[in-house]
Amino acid sequence: MIRFGIIGCGAISNTHASAIAQLDGAMFGACCDINVTRGQAFAQKNNCRFYDDYHALLADKTLDAVIIATPHYLHATMSLASLAAGKHVLCEKPMATTKEDAAALAIAVEKSKKVYAVCFQNRFNPPFIKLKKMIEQNKFGNLNGVKCELTWHRDQAYYAAADWKGSLVQEGGGVLINQGIHTLDAITWFIAPLDKIKGKIMTSLLEDVIEVEDAAMATGLIGEIPIVIHASNNFSSSPSPTITFDFEKSSIVLSMETLMIDGQVVDIQSITQSAEHKAQWGDSHKRLIEAFCHRLNGQYALNDEYLPGLDARYALAIIWGIYDSNQLNRWVTL
Ligand SMILES: NC(=O)c1ccc[n+]([C@@H]2O[C@H](COP(=O)([O-])OP(=O)(O)OC[C@H]3O[C@@H](n4cnc5c(N)ncnc54)[C@H](O)[C@@H]3O)[C@@H](O)[C@H]2O)c1
Repeated sequence: MIRFGIIGCGAISNTHASAIAQLDGAMFGACCDINVTRGQAFAQKNNCRFYDDYHALLADKTLDAVIIATPHYLHATMSLASLAAGKHVLCEKPMATTKEDAAALAIAVEKSKKVYAVCFQNRFNPPFIKLKKMIEQNKFGNLNGVKCELTWHRDQAYYAAADWKGSLVQEGGGVLINQGIHTLDAITWFIAPLDKIKGKIMTSLLEDVIEVEDAAMATGLIGEIPIVIHASNNFSSSPSPTITFDFEKSSIVLSMETLMIDGQVVDIQSITQSAEHKAQWGDSHKRLIEAFCHRLNGQYALNDEYLPGLDARYALAIIWGIYDSNQLNRWVTL
């Protein structure tokens, strides 16, 4: 049995709780939040101990692993402290908010020999897995270009609901580092890390509300392959982000729920029911945590190799490259 402690009992903690409740070999031993009411409610619901200081949780010898689900600026500090306390770490995205912290974390992870993972759960969406395997089998020929688009709705009420969201220091950025990061991770995971980027960010509809960007556009390069990026939090609703792959033999459009190849929707129902994907649709957090537990136990199951670890840095490299490029008004080498 793997005993998890979770630091941060806010919105996303319930997704982790429902995932762990569905896994035979995992349970919560403890939780922590500086908001005592919220933390105690989580502890009661999940039948675990409560701490109001994460150092106390890390000193709890009964815990094997820690889930970090706090505001972005705390991720690197808490990950480093967790590794130093001998815990395995599953951290919500992003792994860090500064280049220095990401570099320090990479060194600490290598030294620690602990399992370190970042919560890019979309890698475990059935259409993503299906496409990943087809690309690995080189089914589509050369890649000519990639386009990705995320247009969501994040308004004043969204930012008012959490004091750290919209703060440059605490969130570390806006639509790119919070919402777009999953899509950017997907590009690096499907294809490769980007070599160069030129981009622009702005704060438009939310200019009086937040310090961070609510819109971004960029052109990246993997070798000679153009990667076109568009992200905005100013749309009227939040449709599934899409990635379009322009391959020599096929045009592919991937969303969270669907995979379309040359205009034909691939039957995801049959994918989820195949031996390859026994789990239920829509529970990618659960699949990611399951892969984390397998890694921790030294076991292997199909697709466990897709667990995001230090390769989570590549999405951040794109984001920081866009921020730097915006400031310098030139291409940035990543
Ligand atoms: N993987 C995903 O799809 C996904 C989705 C939503 C959120 N997230 C990520 O999850 C993380 C949390 O987001 P959220 O929406 O749940 O935020 P939230 O503001 O709802 O929750 C954060 C919690 O952390 C607590 N906290 C703050 N400082 C603390 C400290 N020093 N010690 C202990 N607890 C502390 C807060 O009191 C709060 O309860 C973020 O990194 C976010 O990007 C990921």
